[in-house]
Amino acid sequence: MTPWYPSPMADGGYDITDHRDVDPRFGTLADVDALLDEAHGLGLRVVVDLVANHTSEEHPWFVAALAAGPGAAERGRYFFRDGRAEGSRPPNDWISAFGGPAWTRVTGPGGEPEQWYLHTFAPEQPDVDWSDPRVQQGYDDVVRFWLDRGVDGIRVDAAPAMAKAPGLPDAGHAPGARFDSHLWQDSPHWDVDEVHAILRRWRAISDGYPGDRAFVTEAVVHSAERLSRYVRPDEMHTTFNFDFLHAPWRADRLRQVIDATLAALGPVGAPPTWVLSSHDDPRHVTRYSREQPAGRGGAVSGPADLAVGLRRARAAALLLLALPGGAYLYQGEELGLPEVEDLPVEALQDPTWERSGHTVRGRDGCRVPLPWSGDAPPFGFTAPDARPWLPQPPGWAELTVERQSADPDSTLTLYRAALRLRRELPALAGEQFSWDDDGDGSVLAFTRGAGFGCLVNLGQRPLSLAGRGVVLLSSSPVTDELPTDTAVWLGRDPAT
Ligand code: NOJ
Repeated sequence: MTPWYPSPMADGGYDITDHRDVDPRFGTLADVDALLDEAHGLGLRVVVDLVANHTSEEHPWFVAALAAGPGAAERGRYFFRDGRAEGSRPPNDWISAFGGPAWTRVTGPGGEPEQWYLHTFAPEQPDVDWSDPRVQQGYDDVVRFWLDRGVDGIRVDAAPAMAKAPGLPDAGHAPGARFDSHLWQDSPHWDVDEVHAILRRWRAISDGYPGDRAFVTEAVVHSAERLSRYVRPDEMHTTFNFDFLHAPWRADRLRQVIDATLAALGPVGAPPTWVLSSHDDPRHVTRYSREQPAGRGGAVSGPADLAVGLRRARAAALLLLALPGGAYLYQGEELGLPEVEDLPVEALQDPTWERSGHTVRGRDGCRVPLPWSGDAPPFGFTAPDARPWLPQPPGWAELTVERQSADPDSTLTLYRAALRLRRELPALAGEQFSWDDDGDGSVLAFTRGAGFGCLVNLGQRPLSLAGRGVVLLSSSPVTDELPTDTAVWLGRDPAT
C-alpha cells in the first residue's frame, strides 16, 4: 500500500499530515481493519509505507515550527537554517530529487524573508531531523501503531535520505546537477551511515511483535555492497533491488546485476529481491520497447515498438519469478500495461513537472488507474460517471482484467500460471541457484536445484530446446526452438 494517510497530495500522498490515520478519500481506519482481516483470511499479507524522512508542510509539527519562528524549539524537528550571502542564498548546495535546490526560504508573518528549510523532495515535504529525540519517539509510535493494527510489513520510504552529515556541509554538486543518487559516494545527504541507527531502532521494535513482520527499504545507493548494509541481521529484513529494474534488456547486464545482488546479500543473510516496475519508474513494457544501450535505465525516448516491449516484458516476468528470493510485482504489469506517455499536460500531477520547468513529465504515466472491465473508461475502476485522477487511454479496453481473464494467451493468464507454478514447484521455494553456461552471451540459463531450469533468449537467433527438459511454461509460443525475447521454464528429471 503506497501512502493512504491524510495528505494534501503534493506528492501522491508521500506528504503526510497524520501518519496514524487514513485519508477520507481512501476510507477509514475501520476499513483498514476490515481489509487486514479479509487479506489475512485469504493468506495475503499487507505491507504499508512508512514515510519518515519528511512530513507534509501541513503536518502539525511543521505548522508549529513555522509559527514559532527562528530559534524556537519547535523548529528543531526540521532543518531550519539561515541562508548564506546575508540570507539570500540557500545554506548549502544540496539538491532536490524533483529538481532545483533542496532548500526553500520561509516568508515571515510580516512578509519578510526569513530562514530556509530543507526538503530532499518537494517544498511541501520538509525533511525531519532524526537527531531530535521527539522525532525518534514520534516515529516509534507510528511504527507501533501500524504493527499493533496487524500490518505484516513496512516499506521504508527514501531510507538513505534519513540521516544527514553533521553541519550539513556542501555536497559539491555542480550547478544544474541531477539527483543521481546511485552515483553518489560519501554524500553528506544520502546513504549517510547514521541512517542505520534508525533502522536498528525499528527492527528492535518489530522483533517484539508476534508473527513474521518484515521491513523492506527503498534505497537507491551506489553499489550492491552499500545496499547490503540496509539488510544486516539487526536492520531491515529485505530491500528493493532497483539495479535489476534499471538494467537494460541485455543478458550481460542482467547477469551482472543478478551476480552482484547474490554476492552482496548472501554474506549478510538477507534474501535477494527482484522488481521490474514501480510507481516511480516508466513501465517496463515501454522501457523494453526501445533500443537497449548498455547503460542504466535504457532509452526513454526514440522509436518504440510496444509489441517487442511486451514480448520482452513477458519473458522478463518469467526470469524474475524464477530467481531465488522475493519478487515484487507492480500493479498493472500483470496486464502488460505500457507507460502512458501522452497524458495531457493539464492532467500531470507529479511535482517533477513543475519543478523541472515543464521539461520532465514525471511519474504519472505509470500511475494511471488499472482497467478492470468494460469497453470504456473508467473501465470498472470507479463508478461509471466518475473520472479517475489520471485519464485512462481508451485503447485499454483490450487490456482489462475481464478481457484478459478469458484469454489463455493473455499476459494476466501468463502471470497467474507463473505464480501458481512458483508456489507449487519445490525447486522454486529453495535457495539453490546456478548458471548453466550456455550460448554466446545473449542467453540467460540457470538451474534452481536439479529439477528446474529457466532459459531466456535475449539474442537475435532462435535457440534449440532439444534435450533441455520439458517445457512447463513459456512467455511466448515455442516449438522445438526458443525464439528471440522468449523465456521458458523447464522441468528436468533430477536423476539425469
Ligand atoms: C519514494 C517514493 O517511492 C516516491 O514516490 C516519493 O515521491 C518519494 N519517495 C518521496 O517520498
